[in-house]
Amino acid sequence: MSILIKNGRIVTAVDDYMADVFIEGEKISLIGKDLKVQADQVIDASNRLVLPGGIDPHTHFDMPFGGTTSADDFASGTKAAAFGGTTTIIDFAIQPRGESTLKGLDIWHDKANGKATIDYAFHMIITDMPDERLPEMRRLADEGVTSYKLFMAYPGVLYVDDGTLYRTFRQAGENGTRICMHAENGIVIDEIIKAAVKDGKTEPKYHALTRPTRMEAEGVHRAISIAEVAKVPLYIVHLSSSDALEQVKIGRARGVDVIAETCPQYLFLDQSYYEREGFEGAKWVMTPALREKWNQDVLWQGLKFRDLETIATDHCPFCFKDQKELGKDSFTKIPNGAPGVENRMSLVYNGGVVGGRISLNRFVELTSTAAAKAFGLFPKKGTIAVGSDADIVIFDPNRKETISVKNPHTHHMKVDYSAYEGFEVQGFTETVLSRGRVIIEKNVMKTERGGQFVKRALTGSLLR
Ligand code: URP
Ligand code: ZN
Ligand code: ZN
Repeated sequence: MSILIKNGRIVTAVDDYMADVFIEGEKISLIGKDLKVQADQVIDASNRLVLPGGIDPHTHFDMPFGGTTSADDFASGTKAAAFGGTTTIIDFAIQPRGESTLKGLDIWHDKANGKATIDYAFHMIITDMPDERLPEMRRLADEGVTSYKLFMAYPGVLYVDDGTLYRTFRQAGENGTRICMHAENGIVIDEIIKAAVKDGKTEPKYHALTRPTRMEAEGVHRAISIAEVAKVPLYIVHLSSSDALEQVKIGRARGVDVIAETCPQYLFLDQSYYEREGFEGAKWVMTPALREKWNQDVLWQGLKFRDLETIATDHCPFCFKDQKELGKDSFTKIPNGAPGVENRMSLVYNGGVVGGRISLNRFVELTSTAAAKAFGLFPKKGTIAVGSDADIVIFDPNRKETISVKNPHTHHMKVDYSAYEGFEVQGFTETVLSRGRVIIEKNVMKTERGGQFVKRALTGSLLR
């Protein structure tokens, strides 16, 4: 099968030019002006941007959490991602505590295998790492799992102590792999929560009020210090606040190999959402919590000046009815997480490029290329180049949509609300190719499934 994309404006993290793209099989085989080639299918991309498919390096599909399971599985989640212009996700497999990490990998392969519409990879969440298990980490890397997430938050659930952090960090560094860190001092936060609940403070807004930004900053500071000593490249996930970003800047200024991710929710939503009538604030109960609005400007500056490297979604949806409602009596029982995998590209294009905060090239870098580089997918993915996978998004920079659970163009996620209800965005995905297959054509799904597990290369350092 061959496809010719004609008359488009190709934008990568560094280029911006008019050309045709010729795809043979799964790969891009030729790029040039007015290509005279025979193709099985011709797609006219006039007045459209031709972008590398989005890469969302932080999703939780089919994840058991908070007494329930995230509402999107690999079938619905990857379809929704595709509609939004994302062609690769990196999800988090979980090591069952006290058992093999390889067992965790098998469980996640079973969840995804045969269901995904776009390509996917896995990070591994490490829940314990005694010395005798350390050799498993090299086996994980051989299996293409070259990054590991550890939690300072959620004591009794996913939390690990500093000794475990250090052991895992050192081994990951020796193996040429990367650590992802949920950086928040969960032990102190749990004490704050206990005191709040004792005082009868149980509404959703106390989720945010019991998680001070200083405790996120402390976690970031500690993770950076441990990574520095253990000599491992570090990636701070879902960074939400100015206080936390300050610690990243300090670490980087000292020469520590640390990069950080933020998410649309921290760029476009804020703590006032928890003040909504009744229990509605539960929709935005996620960790870290939404912050005071002024933090948003600081995060945008971080994106612009490269102290923040990627924008992921941390897509972890729970239906308002039945799932979020588990916490009706206390915010401590609300499953943590919110949907967003489908809306990321439009939100960031609208807020970033249309809003004049970042360039078009930086938009591509933040939503695709940087994640590919950080996580061993580049140049297979994350760019438009001869030899790269034909993961391509044809994006209409002028089309406007209003994000809503009721809008069939913006909501394919299997969750009964939108975190961005009523947001008007300019810039919308129209046609999507995944490894040379047209999976969405003019906003209609053409091919489901067919997504494959991607073994990632060793990640090394981005700072060298
Ligand atoms: O609230 C969140 N973020 N839920 C998903 C788990 C995590 O911490 O990433
Ligand atoms: Zn997390
Ligand atoms: Zn997460």
